[in-house]
Amino acid sequence: MGKNLIFIPLYNGYGAELEKCIKTWKYYAKKYNIEIIIANDDIEFGFEKWGNGIWQRWKDDKLINGDWDKVLIVDADTMVRWDAPNIFEQNKDSNFSVVRDAGGYNTGAYHLNQWTKINNDIKTPPQNYFNCGFLFMNKQNYLKLSNNISKYYEYWKSFHFLGVDNDEMRRLGKPDAVEQTPINILSWELFPEEINYLPDVWNNMVMCKYDDASFINDSYVWHFTGPRLGGWGNKQPIIEQVYSAIESQYIDIYQTRDELIADLPKGMKCAELGVFKGDFSKQIFDTMKPSELYLIDIFSGVMGSGDKDGNNFEKISLDESYNNLKNYFEKNENVKIIKNMTVRALSEFTDNYLDFVYVDAGHEYHDVKNDLELSYQKVKNGGYICGHDYNRESFLGLCTAVDEFCEKYGLSIKYLTNDGCPTYMIILKK
Ligand SMILES: C[S@@+](CC[C@H](N)C(=O)[O-])C[C@H]1O[C@@H](n2cnc3c(N)ncnc32)[C@H](O)[C@@H]1O
Repeated sequence: MGKNLIFIPLYNGYGAELEKCIKTWKYYAKKYNIEIIIANDDIEFGFEKWGNGIWQRWKDDKLINGDWDKVLIVDADTMVRWDAPNIFEQNKDSNFSVVRDAGGYNTGAYHLNQWTKINNDIKTPPQNYFNCGFLFMNKQNYLKLSNNISKYYEYWKSFHFLGVDNDEMRRLGKPDAVEQTPINILSWELFPEEINYLPDVWNNMVMCKYDDASFINDSYVWHFTGPRLGGWGNKQPIIEQVYSAIESQYIDIYQTRDELIADLPKGMKCAELGVFKGDFSKQIFDTMKPSELYLIDIFSGVMGSGDKDGNNFEKISLDESYNNLKNYFEKNENVKIIKNMTVRALSEFTDNYLDFVYVDAGHEYHDVKNDLELSYQKVKNGGYICGHDYNRESFLGLCTAVDEFCEKYGLSIKYLTNDGCPTYMIILKK
């Protein structure tokens, strides 16, 4: 795969509700390791550059001269669902993909007719008119559009003093202020055989048709557009409401568990369930500077385990590990090494005593379920329950236990790491 880019045109600043939309795209970009550009440059609303920000995206330096192969240009009033697939993977053979406009034939015909004065041979079939809030393309097609849009821009610009969406401008049959129709016209002229239509799920423009929030599950991308939303004043609260309903689903990604724990408060009461050689115990001790640290393991027999990424599998004597750790932490009175089964050791703690528990002992469904249940009792409100190996392919039972635990207590995974054996983190709300 070449270099991918998500580009959100947002010239001249934006309001708080759009920041929420953008958060969802930042999350998506981080999750799939895609570069994201929020084009929030200060562009004068004159015509020194490319007029209003809507046209500007076709002349933006970052797109024209940037190093990328495929781009997804999305409007800032869109949100992407937390579990939407990677469009660059799913759509890797496409050089131009769009979603048909929700208005159908009549909307298409209405918009296309506005431009017949400068193009009397428009090839775009009105029923295939697409929405420009979601455009996927390769660089070659972007540059073709960019190089050819000027005459449309000049024509539109000649009316600009009448104002954007001015009634008089409409009455005179002047074109709409957006570049959507020229892009529809040009793509059918420049690369008609490459236009690929994606299903509506990639640009749901009709949330207003639903009486409930079920559109959240019906689509990957929600586009808060369309007159039926009742104009900008109505859009804002709708965006805010949708975001507050879904916010908890967006899991922040860290590259490694070391980075994740580095962001947590220092001086907490911590426990690690399942210690093995103590590699992570030492990391917790050094990074989190715990006020108390409990290292719990059966510490007996010979046990095999991989490293933090699941590589370099090795077998060690846990009795030896116990002795080594005793020596290592000898001078640290705040570190207690407990040789016991996790559930037995945990039961000894007073309820709500701990701030942080790392669950990494038995990996079977019932082991994890029991460890999580007890951790829930022993960790205080606002504390952290986390664990290792949240990977469905290798540890389905473990993942099911974590998911069921979240469901039962109305919790969700807040952070996840992107390494070989993902660490999950839940923040307790009791
Ligand atoms: C994957 S290793 C832990 C690795 C360690 N947390 C790290 O990241 O470096 C699992 C450990 O859990 C211990 N263990 C498994 N089941 C246990 C149980 N029920 N009670 C206590 N320890 C257990 C094993 O002895 C083993 O050392």
